[in-house]
Amino acid sequence: MTQVTLQSEVEKLVKEFTIDESTLKVLTEYFIESIEAGLGHSSDEHSKSLPMIPTFVTKVPNGREHGTYLAADLGGTNFRVCSVDLRGDSTFQLEQSKAKIPEDLLDAETSSELFSYLAKKVKQFVERHHADRLSTDEDKHLKLGFTFSYPVNQTALGKGTLIRWTKGFKIQDTVGKDVVELLQIELDKQQVPVKVVALANDTVGTLLSHAYASGASPSGKQGDSVIGAIFGTGTNGCYLEPIDEIKKLDPKIAEELKNKGETHMVVNTEWGSFDNDLKHLPNSIYDERIDKISSNPGYHMFEKRVSGMFMGEILRQVLVELHSKGVIFTQYPNYERLPHRLRTAFELDSEVLSHIEIDDSTNLKETELSLLQSLRLPTIKEERIAIQSIVRAISRRSAYLAAVPLAAILIRTKALEGYHKEVEIGVDGSVVEYYPGFRSMIRHALALSPLGPDGERKVHIQISKDGSGVGAALSVQSST
Ligand code: GLC
Repeated sequence: MTQVTLQSEVEKLVKEFTIDESTLKVLTEYFIESIEAGLGHSSDEHSKSLPMIPTFVTKVPNGREHGTYLAADLGGTNFRVCSVDLRGDSTFQLEQSKAKIPEDLLDAETSSELFSYLAKKVKQFVERHHADRLSTDEDKHLKLGFTFSYPVNQTALGKGTLIRWTKGFKIQDTVGKDVVELLQIELDKQQVPVKVVALANDTVGTLLSHAYASGASPSGKQGDSVIGAIFGTGTNGCYLEPIDEIKKLDPKIAEELKNKGETHMVVNTEWGSFDNDLKHLPNSIYDERIDKISSNPGYHMFEKRVSGMFMGEILRQVLVELHSKGVIFTQYPNYERLPHRLRTAFELDSEVLSHIEIDDSTNLKETELSLLQSLRLPTIKEERIAIQSIVRAISRRSAYLAAVPLAAILIRTKALEGYHKEVEIGVDGSVVEYYPGFRSMIRHALALSPLGPDGERKVHIQISKDGSGVGAALSVQSST
């Protein structure tokens, strides 16, 4: 029998976490299939397939849009209120205030506890920045775009019911309710002169704001903006689909839109839910354990392997398992003796992994400090070398998986067909923005995917800052 050592365990793990060319192919093909299935499903409520939610946004901006709009953004655990002045030349001015959602609201009994808090924040912002607009005259009400980064079943630009919470919220009472109405009711109760006219997912905001910013500056433009994507606490993406292909759309609405000359609609894929049935996604014991302790077991299975909320937890699960095998942290005789933080789920932030990923200090001194600081966990050099390999395996798996929906959408939409055709993907989120090498690892995977190296070269992945603020303002614009 071969001896179980830390090194042999790490080698096994790295192998298990590797996504090779054939897996990329299978996943990309399955993603394309899932898009088609999702566009055909009439109800998203209980479906486990790709939600593919119509957003009622029918065009991307060209940079010439203008006006002043409010935007509110409920994303991870922060709530932002902004006022955006679109200047019509691809530039904008933005003022904002940000507040951390109080912990007790994450699992409040009633929706109104959360939404009255949000309305209060909008009120404070309007009083501070738009005192001149504090009119009771309905016509003068400021228009607000609500970026709501959770899966909703959208039935109009300004209407959508929550399918389920993700990213830590657990307010059961909100599920099935129209989140625009919930916010409007509380705004009205508090007599805030604001009308919520558009509901936008953060990915839609990212696509719109990216198109706006690159639109009117042909010199900086490297192609059409075709996908808006988030790789942060959660992960998701949207793109333009021909209206005729969105079979689940009410035929009357589809007809009306086409009569107005509209041809396409942005679809919010909610790719966090790709392959919830785990037909093709890799599934390790760590993924299984995380799913069990998550707030939405069985859902968002792709997100649980890709996004920032889970990368740290995957590492923590791996370390606890290696300890139980007796190959790491051997000074602790049993699980109960491990540092408390190492035993606490979701305690390890992906930011810690981002330091370990690129640590090249002597004896991995920085990793040592990082682990001491974040988990109160002392380590020896051999352990740190092992941990760095594991971190790199986790992030590479995440980035390689992240490439799958991008490749699939580019192939499905034939976005790269045409002479010298190049495309832009607008991205936002802490992982894609700050995790070292994440974007280049996505690129490696794109080249290895069915897109191939030639396709990969024509794709420009660009950070699109403030998507959720500017994008929400732009979605208001598309309502006028
Ligand atoms: C989660 C949400 C989705 C959002 C994404 C990124 O996956 O379900 O709506 O776009 O996180 O924030």
